[in-house]
Amino acid sequence: MALELDAQAIISALVLASLPFILHQILVRHRPGDPPLHKGWIPYYGVARELDQNPEKLLARLHKKYGDIFDVWTNGARMTICFDILEAVPSMYRNTKQMDFHDFEVRLHTPVFGYPVEYRDNPDLQKEIHDLTNVYSINTDNVKLMTEEFTVAFDKLLHQSIREKGTEFVTDMRDWARYLMYAATCKALFGQHFPAEEEQMFRDFLAWEWDFVNMAKHKPMKKIQKGWDARERIFKRISEDMAVNEDKVTDFIKTRIQIHKKYGYDPTSRGFASGMLQLIFAGTANTLPTSFWYLSIALSDPRYTKMLRERIALYVKSDELSSASFDYHGLTNDPILTSFFSEVLRLKASIWGFRLCIEDAILPVGGKEYFFKKGTTIWVPVPIVHRDEEIYEKPQEFEPNRFLKVEDGKMTKKVMFKKNGKLTRLAHLPFGGGKSMVL
Ligand code: HEM
Repeated sequence: MALELDAQAIISALVLASLPFILHQILVRHRPGDPPLHKGWIPYYGVARELDQNPEKLLARLHKKYGDIFDVWTNGARMTICFDILEAVPSMYRNTKQMDFHDFEVRLHTPVFGYPVEYRDNPDLQKEIHDLTNVYSINTDNVKLMTEEFTVAFDKLLHQSIREKGTEFVTDMRDWARYLMYAATCKALFGQHFPAEEEQMFRDFLAWEWDFVNMAKHKPMKKIQKGWDARERIFKRISEDMAVNEDKVTDFIKTRIQIHKKYGYDPTSRGFASGMLQLIFAGTANTLPTSFWYLSIALSDPRYTKMLRERIALYVKSDELSSASFDYHGLTNDPILTSFFSEVLRLKASIWGFRLCIEDAILPVGGKEYFFKKGTTIWVPVPIVHRDEEIYEKPQEFEPNRFLKVEDGKMTKKVMFKKNGKLTRLAHLPFGGGKSMVL
């Protein structure tokens, strides 16, 4: 009798334990007309763990299995993944009325950048700020001005380092390069007076950035306390600086201040500081890793170092250790140097493209059409596109001349690559596309 009861209890426990798995299989289903669905076997979480730990490995495997578009089930929701650079991605970039980059970013405003809710929820103010930011940071002419400010700051910071450490010194390249890029970017964006050299502020920026993903995932306070406190100190420092240096800022920030005042926000306000933090992030999130990898790869092989040195030497105008000694236009347009740079970005940019459907939308993929409801985000795993062997020969290898085109003895930058026999510009996507493309 006791044995029978035990057996019954075990069976009931097994049925109960397997219930969530059975329900996951029954309830999470592919809907007709949707892309294929990979739901994994773990109830609710689906493939969340694999996606967190090694997204590239998982998605490259699923790409082979399902093709250029599919959904994965993660943390109780579908996530749409798209690799179709011939049809879908260009259509996403063009369709700015229905699909947007910025609207997704807005979801990070309060949890990550610390926007006060009433500041975030002021659509007219936010639109004006966003339009202004794009004019100043991704419009070519203004980027030139910002680059000039950047080089002025960079020279000063470099000379300061040399004064303190001498012309030859051993350093942790990652930290040093990060600091220089961070400080010069802050000064280029806000003005040369900006206190970016202060160690505390730099440390706080790194501590906040470390918790970025946890904040975006709304993790509990105990997990994000360090980043949270660091962000508070950054806000305080920005407000203190604005209280005394409002008149020293760049034209960009002057206009930003005017817009804020129009809506009742002082430059010492928390709203203003949170927007500034987002700007620092936008300006450094990609440049820091890119410059680190550029230097690491350049120094990893003596042939690369020699080739880059010789090529850069063509654009040196004087011996002075300053950015002004270089012919900037020549440097940034040299096909050999830009090919090297593009190849660094191809292999090392860990960027994902995404667009949020701000209206119901239809997307053509590989000759079929898929319908997406308003609110769906479509993700493009750029690192996997950049390693697609149908596009790039030996995609895992660093090939400095991959983006070099030589025709009739003339060198230019190669921008077109073939996928499925068709030529496309979108095989290389480090800067995004459409109206929010950075370069
Ligand atoms: C290696 C350098 C950089 C890379 C690889 C990079 C990459 C990107 C990418 C992929 C996007 C999303 C675009 C899209 O999906 O269409 C983006 C957006 C943006 N980037 Fe960059 N970026 C870089 C440097 C910068 C710098 C230096 C600034 C400013 C000083 C900047 C400011 C912005 C802004 C403001 C946006 C948002 C545009 C919008 O909301 O429409 N970026 N960046």
